[in-house]
Amino acid sequence: MVFDIKPHEREIFRLIEQSAIELGYEVYVVGGYVRDRLLGMPSKDMDIVCLGSGIKLAQEVAGALRPIPRVTVYSRFGTAMIKHGDMEIEFVGARKESYRFDSRKPTVEEGSLEDDQNRRDFTINALAVSLNERNFGEIIDPFGGLHHLEEKLIKTPLEPGKTFSDDPLRMMRAIRFSTQLLFKIDPGTLSAISKYKNRINIVSQERISTELQKIVLSDTPSIGFKLLFKTGLLQIIFPEMANLQGVEIRDGRGHKDNFYHTLEVLDNLSKHSKNLWLRWAAILHDIAKPATKRYNPDHGWTFHGHEALGAAMVPRIFKNLKLPLDGKMKYVQKMVRLHLRPISLTKDNITDSAIRRLLFDAGDDIDDLMMLCEADITSKNPNRVNKYRSNYELVRQKLKEVEEKDRIRNWQPPISGELIMETFGISPSREVGMIKTAIREAILDGDIENSYEAAYQYMIEKGNEFGLKTVV
Ligand code: CTP
Repeated sequence: MVFDIKPHEREIFRLIEQSAIELGYEVYVVGGYVRDRLLGMPSKDMDIVCLGSGIKLAQEVAGALRPIPRVTVYSRFGTAMIKHGDMEIEFVGARKESYRFDSRKPTVEEGSLEDDQNRRDFTINALAVSLNERNFGEIIDPFGGLHHLEEKLIKTPLEPGKTFSDDPLRMMRAIRFSTQLLFKIDPGTLSAISKYKNRINIVSQERISTELQKIVLSDTPSIGFKLLFKTGLLQIIFPEMANLQGVEIRDGRGHKDNFYHTLEVLDNLSKHSKNLWLRWAAILHDIAKPATKRYNPDHGWTFHGHEALGAAMVPRIFKNLKLPLDGKMKYVQKMVRLHLRPISLTKDNITDSAIRRLLFDAGDDIDDLMMLCEADITSKNPNRVNKYRSNYELVRQKLKEVEEKDRIRNWQPPISGELIMETFGISPSREVGMIKTAIREAILDGDIENSYEAAYQYMIEKGNEFGLKTVV
């Protein structure tokens, strides 16, 4: 079969062909670029394999381009990269062994195109397009990759145990591609993942998390998480999440399976938001349910405090997964901590002060929080779903009204600690904090107006209660 070369590709393909002729090399486009193009998806990363030195070929190609691009050489890997328009083109010599992906650094040997295709992860990633004069544009497909693209199948080119021991990250990649492309994993390949799952332990956490993030960011992330669980990988790489699975029954009463519930919430949310960190909040919102689970014959199953404990678990989980420990983590913590707040507001207690408190605690993230809470409705009972939905509608309406009136979202209480110290001639102390909190609470409760004057007056009263006298 011949590759349908697009006009924008023809020029660069011909130039690579000419450069390879100059050096006496054979040359091919390989891997993800060929796969994505055959799937009709855009791709900006092109991998070129030659029978010779990838670095020399990159230099030859760069020399023929105008303006001449910079060649970035990775001598440790024997590869080189140039940028051409919005494309990144990477050049490498064909090889027998994969050292690039492997932590154990086997010896590298030059090889044929066939050797190079043999050492790739999946048949759909082992397709090559010839850029040589004798068969320019021909697709070289030794493992039936074209057929598997049509069948939507992820399969290793060699016996899966061999492909996975070359680089165990490929077990995660199989699941990631299956999730992104909605492809099935070949049964033999899938059972090999279960068999070799423990090999994932030799792969760096950074590489594992890169794949995990791609699963989280796909359209239906549950597909990947279910496969990770089924193969046993999740239990190794993210045990806290695997622990959510299971239903316990006492006196004939069970609770919901929190793993599948979490996945439903994640999928629901993913239909409305591509925000990676909000998706992490969905993954983690019930993470402390196993740790807080109690059974009480009168009340059935309870998970009291799971939102607070869950928020407290976030830093360790982020650290283990090597996710950023900055504002993004804080945001996820906040979402986990607050995820029950909107639902706790029912018709009778949607008071202005409860709404002001929610606005104050959530700040600018209030819309994200509401989105998470709505995704959290997974009941199969339509009456309940309707009840929750209309309640949220009411909360949203109230949020809007109160925000328009009181502007709490980005609100800072009008009296600072400095002003309190100056007014009463005192140094930093417990009283300063107590007066500040009292002012904030009084405004949030609606006891005093949200203005400087009212807050100043209240500060004087509170100070007097503590036996303080004004000095200014
Ligand atoms: N590859 C491999 N084993 C790996 C990683 C990569 O065999 N662990 C090969 C595959 O042939 C792959 C190519 O190297 O197609 C390029 O790898 P990479 O850029 O990581 O992935 P892509 O397949 O391009 O897909 P994506 O960009 O979605 O990661």
